[in-house]
Amino acid sequence: MEYSDLLIEHHDKVVVIRLNRPKAMNALNDNMMNELGDALYKFDADPAVNVIILTGSDKVFAAGADIAAMANYSYADTYPGNYIGRNWEHILNVRKPVIGVVAGYALGGGCELAMMCDFLIASDTAKFGQPEIKVGVTPGAGGTQRLPRAIGKSKAMDMLLTARMIDAAEAERTGLVSRVVPADLVMTVALEVAETIAAMPVSVAMQIKDAVNRAFETTLTEGVRYERRFFHAGFGTPAQKEGMAAFLEKRKPNFEGM
Ligand code: CAA
Repeated sequence: MEYSDLLIEHHDKVVVIRLNRPKAMNALNDNMMNELGDALYKFDADPAVNVIILTGSDKVFAAGADIAAMANYSYADTYPGNYIGRNWEHILNVRKPVIGVVAGYALGGGCELAMMCDFLIASDTAKFGQPEIKVGVTPGAGGTQRLPRAIGKSKAMDMLLTARMIDAAEAERTGLVSRVVPADLVMTVALEVAETIAAMPVSVAMQIKDAVNRAFETTLTEGVRYERRFFHAGFGTPAQKEGMAAFLEKRKPNFEGM
């Protein structure tokens, strides 16, 4: 599939997917979300890729759902018809780590898409917000659910009800992003982080991701049991044999193909 709204860059075992509708601030429309789903599934299944980076431009990650496309919708267009959101959550089915890299605006659906990544690295220019209330709707891709889980109820309510944007420093302080990096270095650092993960056994990275995501869906006891199944099942795998042998032999492990 040729992509008109995405740019793809390959870096060894890391692939970078860039949202690319510069004239519309990377507003998320149907075509872009279809293309994103296609790309994510393709790279998740590609043995040459261990980690995916999802990013936008240096000015904008995404300014939300495409308001021009939605403005004239009726309820019948959004639910029985085209069902906005039906192609937004493919990212949640990706088993390999997905790092979101945000420079500039991540607003509305853009912030929601960012929050569906496994973790976020922000440029010091990043701004996050859920301004849907200003265009007369509630968030529609998880903003009212993932934001309070990420930063707590009070901050989330403040952002959702006032539409105020938070900057990168506040995003880091509240735990929305894992690191903030100067704008000119953000992709370099993100690629270093991705390559660090890509050098680990991808099978274990996938299990860790699965188990962490489970924490948001289940009780502590069930979650710990779920984790333990992965831990026990790891014994006898090539990754466990190589990782522990390398430690004991005081050499660097080689997790190629594991
Ligand atoms: N949809 C469609 N087009 C958009 C857009 C959006 N979400 N955001 C920006 N654009 C377009 C603008 O219309 C403008 O197009 P023209 O040049 O053709 O006029 C172009 O991108 C540049 O935007 P601005 O001139 O506004 O640029 P700015 O630098 O002055 O402001 C901004 C940037 C703060 C991001 C501002 O564009 C903005 O507030 N955008 C809307 C943000 C928003 O409300 N997002 C929520 C959408 S609803 C949603 O996402 C629902 C959901 O939960 C799924």
